[in-house]
Amino acid sequence: MTETASTSRGGGDVRLTGISKTYGSFHAVRPLELTVPEGSFFALLGASGCGKTTTLRMIAGLEEPTTGSVLLGDRDVTALPPYKRPVNTVFQSYALFPHLDIYENVAFGLRRRGVKSVKKQVGDMLDLVQLGDFARRRPHQLSGGQQQRVAVARALINHPRVLLLDEPLGALDLKLRRQMQLELKRIQTEVGITFIHVTHDQEEAMTMADTVAVMNAGRVEQLGSPADLYENPDTTFVANFLGTSNLIGTEVAEAHGDDITVTVGGTALRLPAARCPAPVRGGGTLLVGVRPEKISLTHADDAATVPEGRNRISGRIADSSFIGVSTQYVIDAPGCPGLEVYAQNIERDGRLAPGAEVVLHWNPAHTFGLDAGQSPLAGTPDAADAATAATAAAGTEKAVAAAGGEAP
Ligand SMILES: Nc1ncnc2c1ncn2[C@@H]1O[C@H](COP(=O)(O)OP(=O)(O)OP(=O)(O)O)[C@@H](O)[C@H]1O
Ligand SMILES: [Mg+2]
Repeated sequence: MTETASTSRGGGDVRLTGISKTYGSFHAVRPLELTVPEGSFFALLGASGCGKTTTLRMIAGLEEPTTGSVLLGDRDVTALPPYKRPVNTVFQSYALFPHLDIYENVAFGLRRRGVKSVKKQVGDMLDLVQLGDFARRRPHQLSGGQQQRVAVARALINHPRVLLLDEPLGALDLKLRRQMQLELKRIQTEVGITFIHVTHDQEEAMTMADTVAVMNAGRVEQLGSPADLYENPDTTFVANFLGTSNLIGTEVAEAHGDDITVTVGGTALRLPAARCPAPVRGGGTLLVGVRPEKISLTHADDAATVPEGRNRISGRIADSSFIGVSTQYVIDAPGCPGLEVYAQNIERDGRLAPGAEVVLHWNPAHTFGLDAGQSPLAGTPDAADAATAATAAAGTEKAVAAAGGEAP
């Protein structure tokens, strides 16, 4: 590892060129072009079975690609075994050595390379993950979050140029996971190396990563900053997988200039042409999207108070759930049943209860358009259930890989 790490300096991007993996006739990863900039916190996000772990394992050298190359900087590492790549992996199971205390777990990589004096490095690393006081405990005497930090320290002490993290927070409860997300982000900022983080949790990816690649069925569907993906999804899959989108099937009434006008159930809606896929033609169809938190609700009795110029749809509240910070409404409207609206709990209108007639209204600028040729359900939990069933067998294979990859 040291030899590899010292041979190339600067230009340390991770580049995947045409990399793919097939098992028999099954395409786990489709030919992928991906550049992960040096020093970035990069997330591979997607549903179970979409090929995230396979991609990560090809970067680590634990899986041989069917086609394509892995480059670290200018160096093609495709043919190198895992231990010769300047890359370390943190697995979901941590894979700590149970018979070694925390200090020795962290020191392991140094000792294996024959480093004699490990004290300073191990001490610094334990400080980095804030476990200095736990050095002499065994892994079973630590909480899940603490064990996870030991796993990160044990990987970082080898000074990898790239740290790969495969669902490292999956075993933690929600509160601890949130805390560890911030902690990992802090560590990444402090050490400045490239982190490639695999997760199926969109909130986790958005919280930590500078750049997120959304994967779907072996392909990268879209790549961008969290805010960009959220505000400007290119596909229905991305619109539904990151947060929630209301996607409305509409007909295009007018499509010239900066504004597009569409109709649904006899109601006209406007949206910026810049937020639509080109070309949009009058008489064609368009899926129109708007996020639930962008929509305001006004009781039908007060419809006259809705400001001019907003998109508006009349409907009836079918369901409402109070979830503390907000109330989530489901509203049925002509041509678009099941619209979702999130209203912050500031001043609640007691009339907004199931059965009430309401006007939904929002700024047309907050509306985006998507190609109507796609399924509006792609990326929703309903669509995901079917995909998950196909991937049941992956678990055992991964356990073996974790053991094989980390064993001395
Ligand atoms: N050794 C193998 N033989 C056959 N199919 C495999 C093998 N390893 C993985 N697969 C299949 O390849 C696909 C991608 O698997 P992968 O482990 O990369 O998914 P993932 O995105 O990491 O999913 P998860 O979120 O569940 O971990 C899955 O459908 C899986 O069943
Ligand atoms: Mg996986």
